[in-house]
Amino acid sequence: MLPRKRSAMLLSFVVAMVIHQTEQYGSGAPSGACIDQTPRHESIPAQSSTPPYIILTSTAQVRQGDTLQVTVGSPAGAPLPIGGFILQARQIQNPDVIVGKFVGVPDTTMTHVTTCSNPNDTVTHSSPEDKPAMTFQWQAPTDFLGGIEFRATVAQSYATFWKNVESPLVEVVTPDTVTSAPAAAAPATTRATQPPPVIMESKPKQEAAPLDVVYQGCADTKLCFGVPQNCVTKGDCKAVLAVFVSGDRYTFELQAVGNPKYVAAGLSTDNKMGDDSAMECVRNDNGRVSLFTSWTYSKVDPYVSRSDSPQEIVQLQESSVIDGKLYCKFRRDVVSVVQGKTFDLANSMYNLMVVAGSEMKDANRVGFHDLAYEATGTPMSLATVGTAAASSKLLLKLHGSFMLLAWLGTASLGILLARYFRQTWVGKQLGGKDIWFAYHRIFMVLTWLLTVVGFILILIEVGGWSTTGDNPHAITGIVTVIMCFIQPIGAYFRPHPGTKTRPIFNWAHWLLGNSAHILGIVTIFFAVYLQKAELPSWSVYILAAFVAFHVIMHLVLTLTVCVSDGRISNGRINAFPMKDMLGQTRQATQVDRSTDAPFSRFRRLLLGVYTPVVLIFAIAMVCLVALAPITEVYDTIMGA
Ligand SMILES: *[C@@H]1O[C@H](CO)[C@@H](O)[C@H](O)[C@H]1NC(C)=O
Repeated sequence: MLPRKRSAMLLSFVVAMVIHQTEQYGSGAPSGACIDQTPRHESIPAQSSTPPYIILTSTAQVRQGDTLQVTVGSPAGAPLPIGGFILQARQIQNPDVIVGKFVGVPDTTMTHVTTCSNPNDTVTHSSPEDKPAMTFQWQAPTDFLGGIEFRATVAQSYATFWKNVESPLVEVVTPDTVTSAPAAAAPATTRATQPPPVIMESKPKQEAAPLDVVYQGCADTKLCFGVPQNCVTKGDCKAVLAVFVSGDRYTFELQAVGNPKYVAAGLSTDNKMGDDSAMECVRNDNGRVSLFTSWTYSKVDPYVSRSDSPQEIVQLQESSVIDGKLYCKFRRDVVSVVQGKTFDLANSMYNLMVVAGSEMKDANRVGFHDLAYEATGTPMSLATVGTAAASSKLLLKLHGSFMLLAWLGTASLGILLARYFRQTWVGKQLGGKDIWFAYHRIFMVLTWLLTVVGFILILIEVGGWSTTGDNPHAITGIVTVIMCFIQPIGAYFRPHPGTKTRPIFNWAHWLLGNSAHILGIVTIFFAVYLQKAELPSWSVYILAAFVAFHVIMHLVLTLTVCVSDGRISNGRINAFPMKDMLGQTRQATQVDRSTDAPFSRFRRLLLGVYTPVVLIFAIAMVCLVALAPITEVYDTIMGA
């Protein structure tokens, strides 16, 4: 094609576009070229190939009223001039709505701003001359929050044009958001398939901000249920579900914070996960939100399945992703049948569940609910108004408390006594047994009882065997319980002292007991990361301090044993008066067991320190479990 002819053709492209824009100007809801960005060339379709053009922005996040730079060009390495173009910013959730305006665009022979829905919301070419990559300033509106993208139709020539050339997602955020450092505006060689990571931090609220829309009406027109407890009135839930009934319309709203991948609600006939009809709002990589229904399976693959649930029973009405908050609003049919079960919202009562997670398991299944999980304590009618109460955490908290007392407290003490105090209080007895042994047995029986009861409590709470997602707590916990359970059985059948098999028993008893103790403490560490436990993450430091203290005490005590063993073998045992000799024949024949070993006073002193400190650690952790979730309390104190 001759250059001149090409120019003439492009000119008519321009004319066609401009005429269309003029027609639409000031005539209400716009349509046509400026909304669908299609030049009206009869019978010439857009290219279906991947556009050889890209749009890049200077930031992935822009505050309301601030500007960013948007560049239209071809990827470096393949410079391709632009003939004609039309460029606008569009809402991600509502792509037909144009947002913001272009500022400082000079009215030149190359480009100019024009009006589609609002003044200067569109930039287009003035003439069909070949243009290099171009950069424009775009100003975010002050009355919109959420995701946008830039969208253009770019023509290389009259007959060759590409529609829907799109930029990566840009988030319009509130003015007090601290945004990430701006990225370079230059066109990159490759177009990112995922939006750039969003780093954001909100300044602490100085004055009470208005509640998010999901909370509005929770007191008087909607049923609201959120996690953690008491978050609905404050409007700071990690995840929240609201149900609004008007006539026979059941409208659901879901919101979760913390950049969730999905937020979902479940209708259940019990307060456990499984056999529930779930509704999921999922944030796609392009920033749009999709709504699905799914069916959940209790502890069996596939756990959650969309294909086993009809999708047409719900209709998405609104959605947004603003400042890391995923929100959606949808309707659900009053009566629907899922997996042969009838869900009648008007005439049945359901336990409500709300969950949120940060990733998908695969394209069609939501991942583990690592951000939030809560179920109502009792089934309720969806037409109820007010705030629903969460299910009781009593069994869960008792499980945690018992295990903490057992593995931080009694097991640590019992093991310490057995390892370092066999030659202390020599001669004194309790219930016909040596003191160390009597107390060792008391502490270990307590450990065993607390563990077995704690285990039964968690079995009741989760309704049988269960895993804890990616967290190994359940597995290490079960192994610990088994080791703990068999330990006293072995001890009961222990061979007599002096028999050949006794050293084997001693060794096995020591190994099993210590392994169980270590594994038990590891299991407690894992528990801190269990979302269900709602423990603040800094609990880990308390546990680490416990471990450090425990190890130091063991090292010091081991040192005293080594030193005193050295003394005994040097024959200096004679230096100790045999004051504790009671003349019992059994003991009289065993000279080295007849008196306290060296450093016994020092060891007793250490025990006097170790016991209360270990108990304080255990009780502190029990308090955290009992009061969980207390993160907000802590944040308030630290933030003040
Ligand atoms: C639109 O752009 C023109 C030209 O740059 C400018 O003169 C005008 O003030 C702008 N209007 C608005 C509402 O920004």
